[in-house]
Amino acid sequence: MKILITGAKGMLGTQVALDLKRGYTELGAIPQAFMGADVVLADIDNLDITDKAATEKFIADCAPDVVINCAAYTNVDGCESNQDTAFMVNGIGSRNLAIACENVGAKLVHVSTDYVFKGDEPTPRREYDVTNPISVYGKTKNAGEEFVRQYCKKAFIVRTAWLYGYFGKNFVKTMVRLCNERGGATVVNDQHGNPTNAADLSHHLLKIAASEEYGTYHCTNNGECTWFEFAAEIARLAGFEGAMKPCTSDEYPTPTKRPAYSSLDNMMLRVTVGDEMRTWQDAIAAYFENEKKMEI
Ligand SMILES: NC(=O)c1ccc[n+]([C@@H]2O[C@H](COP(=O)([O-])OP(=O)(O)OC[C@H]3O[C@@H](n4cnc5c(N)ncnc54)[C@H](OP(=O)(O)O)[C@@H]3O)[C@@H](O)[C@H]2O)c1
Repeated sequence: MKILITGAKGMLGTQVALDLKRGYTELGAIPQAFMGADVVLADIDNLDITDKAATEKFIADCAPDVVINCAAYTNVDGCESNQDTAFMVNGIGSRNLAIACENVGAKLVHVSTDYVFKGDEPTPRREYDVTNPISVYGKTKNAGEEFVRQYCKKAFIVRTAWLYGYFGKNFVKTMVRLCNERGGATVVNDQHGNPTNAADLSHHLLKIAASEEYGTYHCTNNGECTWFEFAAEIARLAGFEGAMKPCTSDEYPTPTKRPAYSSLDNMMLRVTVGDEMRTWQDAIAAYFENEKKMEI
């Protein structure tokens, strides 16, 4: 069994690589089929997914059984000012991987985002709901999904949201730093979604990859909250209870228009390989417990 991880140096890619190496995730053992697998790690320095010929050659030479694509252009505001680059990585890069996987008969697990939805409906989006992204990031990720569906038969598209983890920069680390440096922060209280621990996502990506339940998945921690509510819980767990103040999106303008309500329902997980995602409260509590033990 050979597994290739692209974007292996990113927040999620590093977590998946660690879980495959140690044979377990925070939620349990990895699938039996992946125990002792040959794991190949790739990132932009040895595999730039925007280069079609190089991507096809890399995957033909590597001959993986499974490719887990964690590579992406993830700077949401940066996408607005660098549309071509964002499309090259999130759209064309995903296409190149899909074609390369199809050439060798590999499964492709492709990670996507809640930002493919507009976020103007009051109930959690399901996998069959129509996408309608409002940001360049969301549009380029949506294009990537379409390419994957078009060019790779053995594909799993896994949408996640508000991702944080032990590796690299993320919202949780920023909130803790702001508590330490400035005694807290002001955080928007009118955008709703599902904070998701990369450890939980990694567990499910591997379960999905070991299956033949091809299709589109939502995979977020269960329950929903606003960014302010998430920040307030982070502050409480970090020993700074009451440090966060709520504000509106109008009071905190960003270059990107973000969905007001982008909760996802993990329906496909429930009906196929099983939804073991923790609640967002349990998952962030676990993050604070485990972070101290990680060798980062
Ligand atoms: N972070 C979130 O809140 C969030 C939410 C929803 C969905 N997602 C999705 O989850 C996945 C993983 O996100 P993440 O937060 O782990 O991202 P990340 O930390 O930014 O990691 C992405 C990795 O891809 C690499 N990369 C960029 N361009 C590349 C290219 N042309 N070829 C090969 N590798 C390239 C990056 O390298 P450089 O760092 O050198 O650019 C980085 O190592 C992505 O598909 C993302 O869209 C993330």
